[in-house]
Amino acid sequence: SANDAPRAQQPSAPYDSAFLKACRREPVPHTPVWFMRQAGRSLPEYRKVREGIPMLESCMRPELVTEITLQPVRRHGVDAAIYFSDIVVPLKAIGIDLDIKPGVGPVVERPIRTREDLAQLRDLTPEDVSYVTEAIGLLTRELGATPLIGFAGAPFTLASYLVEGGPSRTYENAKAMMYGDPELWADLLDRLSDITAAFLKVQIEAGASAVQLFDSWAGALAPVDYRRSVLPASAKVFEAVAGYGVPRIHFGVGTGELLGLMGEAGADVVGVDWRVPMDEAARRVGPGKALQGNLDPTVLFAPTEAVEAKTLEVLDSAKDLEGHIFNLGHGVMPSTDPDALTRLVEHVHTRTVR
Ligand code: CP3
Repeated sequence: SANDAPRAQQPSAPYDSAFLKACRREPVPHTPVWFMRQAGRSLPEYRKVREGIPMLESCMRPELVTEITLQPVRRHGVDAAIYFSDIVVPLKAIGIDLDIKPGVGPVVERPIRTREDLAQLRDLTPEDVSYVTEAIGLLTRELGATPLIGFAGAPFTLASYLVEGGPSRTYENAKAMMYGDPELWADLLDRLSDITAAFLKVQIEAGASAVQLFDSWAGALAPVDYRRSVLPASAKVFEAVAGYGVPRIHFGVGTGELLGLMGEAGADVVGVDWRVPMDEAARRVGPGKALQGNLDPTVLFAPTEAVEAKTLEVLDSAKDLEGHIFNLGHGVMPSTDPDALTRLVEHVHTRTVR
């Protein structure tokens, strides 16, 4: 009977999960898979529980955060949960006047443009985000052996919102500061690295099994500028959490030319978008690191056969990697059919079972 089936593959703790094994570049029973932005608007059950509750407020309600974080785990059977929050939550928590506008993104009331504006940024204490500690406590009990990924925005991506005042395509104000007043820029990023490190520590100490640093918009930078003006701040974040021994993932969009540097910044796992094949990404990152990626999220709008063909392309290009975590090359798009995600998880699992 089903009850007599071998259970050897069932991990009893997050440490033994396929996801954390892949992060550590150990042999896995199957390629683990999760999706950036898996906890969000593509799910009808998410829209239902969020009804009438503004985004930032929903991030501060531990029971709601727990429910939303668990939804994609229940529905898709993904190998990891990602904590439901947003990259601007720690900034809100230290008193920055900002909001997340639906369909727009984070909007900052008083953008940071001068040295005087830096006074808006103070250190983050665990008490500022006590709801995070509480929610992760609830979550780790519910999740059992499924690992929870904590996350934060990287200093550059946070700075892009703080300096521009909102989303941008060109980052002209941020770059003007970076090139025009490198000292102010370095001070801004250094403060953000302390806030980010403190926020990741809260999540790890509460029970997160891995952390991902989202430098979503770093792909706007040339390698020489990334190395000089951004890498030191991100490296400080990774260094600050190195002692916990939890895997550190580093991801940005359009970062093909930066993959080596993003690994160098101190990541254990480098996230790859869909523009660079996984085998080529592995050459750029070099040995000693696992890779995460990299199906184009828009592929999910194509028929199942096409999704499966593109998925096999990703798996094939990743077949010689020491550690591969399957993911999309960027977040799930809101209009994605949730069933396409469920089928994708099953396809990756059945195609890679060892
Ligand atoms: O991955 C997950 O499922 C966990 C939750 C999560 C959210 N934001 C929830 C959210 C994560 C990991 C993030 C990270 C985040 N936030 C990033 C980095 C990841 C990436 O996509 O590159 C960035 C750049 C942000 C900033 C931000 N917040 C944007 C650009 C938006 C979208 C604005 C919009 O409406 O189009 C947000 C809002 C946001 N964050 C939503 C969710 C579920 C949508 C809010 C809603 O449902 O009303």
